[in-house]
Amino acid sequence: MSDKEIDQPTGVETTGHEWDGIKELNNPLPRWWLIILWITVIWSVVYWVLMPSWPGLTGHFEGVRGHTERANVDAAIAALESQRSAEMQQLLSVSSINEVESDPQLLQFAMNAGASLFGDNCATCHGAGGQGFKGYPSLVDDAWLWGGALDDIQKTLHHGIRSTHPETRISAMLAYGETGAFDRGQIDDLVEYVMHISGRSANQEAVVRAAPLYAQQCVSCHGPEGMGDPSQGAPNITDAIWLYGGERADIRETIYSGRAGVMPHWTDRLTDEQITALAVYVHSLGGGE
Ligand code: HEC
Ligand code: HEC
Repeated sequence: MSDKEIDQPTGVETTGHEWDGIKELNNPLPRWWLIILWITVIWSVVYWVLMPSWPGLTGHFEGVRGHTERANVDAAIAALESQRSAEMQQLLSVSSINEVESDPQLLQFAMNAGASLFGDNCATCHGAGGQGFKGYPSLVDDAWLWGGALDDIQKTLHHGIRSTHPETRISAMLAYGETGAFDRGQIDDLVEYVMHISGRSANQEAVVRAAPLYAQQCVSCHGPEGMGDPSQGAPNITDAIWLYGGERADIRETIYSGRAGVMPHWTDRLTDEQITALAVYVHSLGGGE
């Protein structure tokens, strides 16, 4: 290499590269720098072998340790779930609300889980606090269509009401007007009858005319005094709580067309434990029996 020469002041050979009269000296790399370079080279080879590294056509080399962050996340979730499910499992074996109430930690757990499940699944129909809307019963009062004991609530949640579940709670009040079972006059009389037994002023002649109709058609579900029957989801029609409104027009509409509200069943969407947590939560809302 004719370009190479010895630099006079330092006595070091040049590389032969020259820019504007400045020549590059061919000093050896510092030893410490070289050592670090080789360490990192060796480290990278070790790393490639141990850890997921080279991409391939259909995937990647997974490394002899088989490490993935996904597995770490799965493990963390599984740990959390098993921690939760210890309490969830406990909820499964609960047979009465007292059992939950006597265990403050379990109660707290059920209430928290139930409240969040309620917000996600139930608030759209029953209101954020369970106060209900017309056609969607309040869950905070003492009036229950199908019973307010923990077991009743649990069953309502499992099977739904007039739902698609084979064991759904079901009972159908006839659409007495639409089906022609009663004429308009008879329905008007029955409206007066309902006004009367719910303690409001009513046309007494109409009440007398309606009494046999009531006895014949309505007693089987609403009872002789109109107190209702939770085994058939028939509400008390003597109190001031109305699912579909208590004015004459509302009552007429109920008797004329029937109502048959639908509450979905939750066995497909929630686990048994979640349903128990919800039942405990709903039970605690105020009106639990
Ligand atoms: C699509 C609307 C809808 C959703 C969502 C819904 N419900 Fe209902 N729910 C109803 C209707 C309508 C009824 C009343 C059915 C009837 O007329 O018997 C009802 C009845 C009930 C009852 C029985 C009340 C009684 O007086 O016996 C309970 C308890 C209940 N719902 C709880 C829940 C819970 C808890 C959730 C959430 C998991 C939920 N509901 C979600 C519509 C809904
Ligand atoms: C097969 C049982 C059954 C029979 C028979 C029946 N009902 Fe009902 N009734 C119900 C159910 C269940 C409800 C709840 C509404 C629904 O269908 O979601 C109801 C609701 C009502 C309501 C509305 C209550 C509210 O809170 O808004 C009135 C009023 C009523 N019934 C009156 C009558 C009268 C009057 C008769 C007789 C002509 C009658 N029912 C016969 C089952 C029955």
